[in-house]
Amino acid sequence: MERLQKVIAQAGVASRRKAEELIASGKVKVNGKTITELGTKVKPSDEIEVNGIPLEKEEPIYFVLYKPRGVISSVKDDKGRKVVTDFFPELGTRIFPVGRLDYDTSGLLLLTNDGEFTNQITHPKYHIPKTYIAKIKGIPNKTELTQLQRGVKLEDGKTAPAKVKMLSLDKRKNSSIIEITIHEGRNRQVRRMFEAIGHSVLKLKRERLAFLTLAGLSPGEFREMTPHEVKQLRSLALNGD
Ligand code: URA
Repeated sequence: MERLQKVIAQAGVASRRKAEELIASGKVKVNGKTITELGTKVKPSDEIEVNGIPLEKEEPIYFVLYKPRGVISSVKDDKGRKVVTDFFPELGTRIFPVGRLDYDTSGLLLLTNDGEFTNQITHPKYHIPKTYIAKIKGIPNKTELTQLQRGVKLEDGKTAPAKVKMLSLDKRKNSSIIEITIHEGRNRQVRRMFEAIGHSVLKLKRERLAFLTLAGLSPGEFREMTPHEVKQLRSLALNGD
């Protein structure tokens, strides 16, 4: 739910102040009814008219981006570093990342202009599995891997159970490649989980988000999600995996 004047302003019809004037002077209808109350909240499905003209609804749009390392998961950066929206052409709508990946993490990142979808996917109460491939220093033993699986204590609390699989190890280089699937999305969570068992992360990539993969994409490339994928992801968020 958003305030009516904000929705009108965001549609580009008038400034926020002008939108308030339009409402107060009885020029705005919601679902056919004139509304003069300024604080009125509207939902995306409400039909809004200004001076008898229906407000154009912004078409929701959803992308899967293969984020390269060395890019900020944001729409702008104070220090002038590359941001994830730099990979997109001018779309005529403002998209933003759904959650974030660290500057040094590569992999699957969703972007959309749909704020409601973003809330559904990122809210911790919804369980969207995220799979990462981590190259770590050293070779963890069974006990350490079980610890990761069961949950480790971090400064912001114990992590929920995770799926962990050793993919390969290199005794000579003293490093291993581990696949880990988590449902939470705390700040730098995977890096902190490995640190908690005594192995620092050398490289991290998000390989999957629920059923979505990076298939067909190279770093810096994106594709639009299909309407079916959007629907499927929404229902996963609402019903659990
Ligand atoms: N966990 C991390 O540590 N970093 C990420 O970018 C994502 C998950």
